[in-house]
Amino acid sequence: MSAVEIKKDIHWVGVVDWNVRDFHGHTYTTKRGTTYNSYLIKDELIALVDTVRAPFTEESIANIRQIVPLEKIDYIIANHVEADHSGALPKLMKLCPKAKVVGTAKCKEGLYRHYYENWDFQVVKSQDKIKLGQRTLTFLEAPMLHWPDSMFTYIPEDALLMPNDAFGQHYATSFRFDDEVEQVVLMEEAAKYYANILWPLSSLVLRKIEEVQKLNIPIKMIAPSHGIIWRKDPGKIIQAYLSWASNETKKKVVVVFETMWGATEKMARKISEGLIDAGLEVKLYDIARSDRTDIFKEMLNAKGFIIGSSTHDNDMLPNIASFMELLKGLKPKNRVVAVFGSYGWAGGAVKELEEVLKETGIQEIKPSISFQYLPDEEGMKKCYDFGVEFARL
Ligand code: FEO
Repeated sequence: MSAVEIKKDIHWVGVVDWNVRDFHGHTYTTKRGTTYNSYLIKDELIALVDTVRAPFTEESIANIRQIVPLEKIDYIIANHVEADHSGALPKLMKLCPKAKVVGTAKCKEGLYRHYYENWDFQVVKSQDKIKLGQRTLTFLEAPMLHWPDSMFTYIPEDALLMPNDAFGQHYATSFRFDDEVEQVVLMEEAAKYYANILWPLSSLVLRKIEEVQKLNIPIKMIAPSHGIIWRKDPGKIIQAYLSWASNETKKKVVVVFETMWGATEKMARKISEGLIDAGLEVKLYDIARSDRTDIFKEMLNAKGFIIGSSTHDNDMLPNIASFMELLKGLKPKNRVVAVFGSYGWAGGAVKELEEVLKETGIQEIKPSISFQYLPDEEGMKKCYDFGVEFARL
């Protein structure tokens, strides 16, 4: 896809990765692909903000060359070290002889540990500025949003914020702006991105948004490093982040289970029936057949989680164990949780599930329900009542 002008003399020169299907190893599924956004600012001096993943270097370079020769680039701003944004740097630094890399002190260290090159590097801190001519690049450190090196770049003359990963979405489209795409899909991808990447960092997200709000700077456009650029309504994604970071929830329960011979599944369905009859929204997932990236997105605004597993070797089943390990890392707050499961002779899954939930930091774990082998009619009634009671809680 060719360069796109997003503001006068500021171009998107990134690439669309239509077919990437996972991220961060295999922890995050990207069913809708992604984009690596890179922005070229043409002024008396020329700056490139972020680069792209290494295999897409040539495509991005072709986009830059539509606007300026590479030899003219003065600065390459590295808002973030991670390879999806710095992958093209080694090649670009060879082709841009006068370019200086600009980033935080942690960025300098991190880039060195990735590429082992001694590039001309300018370390910047919050509120440092680089005057390009008509425009000024202003930097704001954003440590742990989501790496220690992370930084935002702001151009006051255009009220343009380039916050790298923050406010992004893994969403490949032929469009570049929020007003060109379906809002439901856009917000779904933004929520999935938040749940799977930023959820554990929510207190830092709140603090950073507060810090930016106190600076009282106008923000008319947010151009993240993945997905769609917010030009029509940047306030929409800021409000969504405030809600997600505050752990705001609705009357919704996510039920996730893994079953061996169907007993735990029967329980899950009956518990869900009780929840639904009590008036709650329910999402029910068999973890062995579901995408956990999607489940975490659904959990982001759910007040309740109910998690079940059959017992196998005195423990929970392997798919739910892997799911719980990731949930532990996401550190959800202010949730009501319960567990359930079936067993043959000695149990174990329910106890193990509760142990992991405690490690997750979830305080409110409600009494569990479990049955040996299959629940009979009376057992199924207990499952239904368990759902109704959980809804009341
Ligand atoms: Fe933290 Fe898009 O990389």
